[in-house]
Amino acid sequence: MAEETAKLEFPNGNSVDLPIYSPSEGLDVIDVRTLGKQGFFTYDPGFMATASCESKITYIDGDKGILLYRGYIIDELANHSDYIEVCYLLLNGELPTRKEKQEFCDLINEHTMVHEQLSTFFNGFRRDAHPMAIMVGVVGALSAFYHDSLDISNPEHRTISAFRLIAKVPTLAAMCYRYYHGHPFVYPRNEMSYAENFLNMMFSMPSSDDKPNPVLVRAMDKIFILHADHEQNASTSTVRLAGSSGANPFACIASGIASLWGPAHGGANEACLNMLEEIGEVSQIPKYLEKARNKDDPFRLMGFGHRVYKNFDPRATVMRDACHEVLDTLNCSDDPVFQVALELEKIALEDEYFIQRKLYPNVDFYSGIILSAIGIPKNMFTVIFALARTVGWVSQWSEMIAEKNQRIGRPRQLYTGKSKRAFIDIDKR
Ligand code: CMC
Repeated sequence: MAEETAKLEFPNGNSVDLPIYSPSEGLDVIDVRTLGKQGFFTYDPGFMATASCESKITYIDGDKGILLYRGYIIDELANHSDYIEVCYLLLNGELPTRKEKQEFCDLINEHTMVHEQLSTFFNGFRRDAHPMAIMVGVVGALSAFYHDSLDISNPEHRTISAFRLIAKVPTLAAMCYRYYHGHPFVYPRNEMSYAENFLNMMFSMPSSDDKPNPVLVRAMDKIFILHADHEQNASTSTVRLAGSSGANPFACIASGIASLWGPAHGGANEACLNMLEEIGEVSQIPKYLEKARNKDDPFRLMGFGHRVYKNFDPRATVMRDACHEVLDTLNCSDDPVFQVALELEKIALEDEYFIQRKLYPNVDFYSGIILSAIGIPKNMFTVIFALARTVGWVSQWSEMIAEKNQRIGRPRQLYTGKSKRAFIDIDKR
């Protein structure tokens, strides 16, 4: 695979030729695996320049604003496909034919219910528990229900676990919401699409026959598609590392949910909504823009800018259209929070400070507004992110387990603690 090498010279005069791999997209990668034998480790906290694995699933080019799932451009998938097709694509590498899609839907639908015994777990949580805390617990607890299919070396077991996770996570997510509100749990409806079923489990009441609004279903489906995978981010890397020890997939996905919960990862859309509420009304926007421009003020406009996408976030372009459609459909124009959001979007896009720094509304700006308009409380935003990302985590986990020479992940360290020293008796310290 390596056609070229990079020569690395050591202070002792030795040198080593390191293979350079050319990926199908992106930067070349230097293989440093033999350095340990030369007596050196590499140091790269935060993985700033380290490829932690080989993968064929998702590719991001932040400079060009490109996000590909299995080679397909994200906006084409979001505008012409649906989430269940995207799940099939991420798991299998190809888009399904009509027949394959139907069979896949049927297989997922076989698993949408959760064991009744699992429902009783919810009673052990406080009603006001954060839904992510409940999700970490109940998704991990799934492993206690499927002892018959936890042999990760068996591809059939891996597949059924993947289906179970994709099918059951929306049911569990909706149960978190219902439990918080004291509403009865709603069973899944397999004649509905994935997104429609989720909204139905969230909001339907035994006392009415109301069905989810199709515009909201489509917006939800787009949110799911746009969040389905995002390469080797913190939660995905957590799932891979947990899985590398041979841990079962339910435990691994629970670890991914825990990692996603952090505000630096999955919490940005919640932070954005908090900010919009804090701004409160359109007349306050100039004050907050001034704060954002002021170098001495730590305030940042939440939902603006991105670490990887430096020109534009392709997901935000899709979300923007969906957001405007949802706000129009729900007639939210009088709601001060949404007025602030739309005005802020307009002003920031014309403001010199934001233009110069290429700061535009990101996917979390729009997804937070959509979720809030649909009536989803802020503490459920990250749960919905976790729901959508489950297929990405499972696909990445499956890819890793299927590798021929898969090994446990075991990073090295730059030790800067005390060198070996003698024990001191407690009376002499
Ligand atoms: N508001 C005001 N100024 C900003 C903002 C902002 N949101 N973001 C960056 N800047 C300024 C920053 O002060 C700096 O200015 P200067 O060059 O004068 O010093 C310049 O823009 C470059 O900023 P940076 O800190 O080097 O950019 P970064 O790549 O380190 O940060 C970011 C990216 C996303 C952490 C940051 O833009 C931010 O904090 N945004 C708000 C939080 C947010 O919306 N996060 C969600 C991102 S999408 C999540 C996902 O994809 O999973």
